[in-house]
Amino acid sequence: MGNHQHGDVDWEQLGASLTRRAEAYAPMTARIIEQLRAAQPRPRRIVDAGSGPGVIACALAEAFPDAEVVAVDGTQALLDLTARRAERAGVADRVRTHLADLPDGLADVGEADVVWLGLALHHLGDQRAALTEFARRLAPGGTLVLLEGGLPARCLPRDIGIGRPGLQARLDVAQEDRFNEMRAALPDVKDEAEDWGALLTAAGLTHAETRTHLLDLPAPASPTVRAHVADLFGRLSGGLREGLDADDAATLDRLLDPDDEAGLDHRPDVFLLAAQTVYLGRKGA
Ligand SMILES: C[S@@+](CC[C@H](N)C(=O)[O-])C[C@H]1O[C@@H](n2cnc3c(N)ncnc32)[C@H](O)[C@@H]1O
Repeated sequence: MGNHQHGDVDWEQLGASLTRRAEAYAPMTARIIEQLRAAQPRPRRIVDAGSGPGVIACALAEAFPDAEVVAVDGTQALLDLTARRAERAGVADRVRTHLADLPDGLADVGEADVVWLGLALHHLGDQRAALTEFARRLAPGGTLVLLEGGLPARCLPRDIGIGRPGLQARLDVAQEDRFNEMRAALPDVKDEAEDWGALLTAAGLTHAETRTHLLDLPAPASPTVRAHVADLFGRLSGGLREGLDADDAATLDRLLDPDDEAGLDHRPDVFLLAAQTVYLGRKGA
């Protein structure tokens, strides 16, 4: 716990890029929070499990002024970022941080009206057992918010004028392999078909709703979006290089070169289009 390593990902290093991603996705998060509000209008305690740098925990605290938000993560450096962000947002009195190796370590957090699981469940080896544990932490009538699945983000046109068209589709394929390797390296990993609705039911919850939210930020990209897209391609370039041919590797190098006019820092055609699926599970009253 707190050693910054879960599986083969170094989360501490990822703190800044997770912050930029969550800031770019803020318009989408706001709509997911409204989806939650329709199901759970006045939560008193929200547990954000796998909260990362706390952008979403703070957004939840701002959206629900009567709620205490407990940001739970296995990496202290990310919880420190969360506490600093909560101070800046003026919600430090209602955002608590809790270091835990999920799905354990929630016993002393207390019953929650909402458990928010944003892109966190797929980092746990036994997703079925973890969901059951998170469901146990819900108060009667409480809601589990599960963000998993959707569509891979698109950030550039199919033909960007350099290299072979269709780069992002090929990066998707390489990334699927990388994702499988990430999961295979997790402790106590169990194979699980990703029928999230069925898994919510198996965890003892009523699968109340599935909705997919669109993030549609057309070109020209804001500095926040451009920074996130650069992170995304930088990470792909580092992690997927061996899965790419020489032409695609050269295209990635050009995209990431700050001095190249065809690079991400200068291109006028950078955008962000993404779809995130959200599953709501409800605990019987
Ligand atoms: C992809 S990030 C998502 C962060 C945040 N929920 C968001 O949507 O911006 C996954 C987070 O889960 C945390 N995490 C992964 N495995 C964990 C574990 N076994 N115990 C506790 N936290 C874990 C990581 O430290 C990281 O902050």
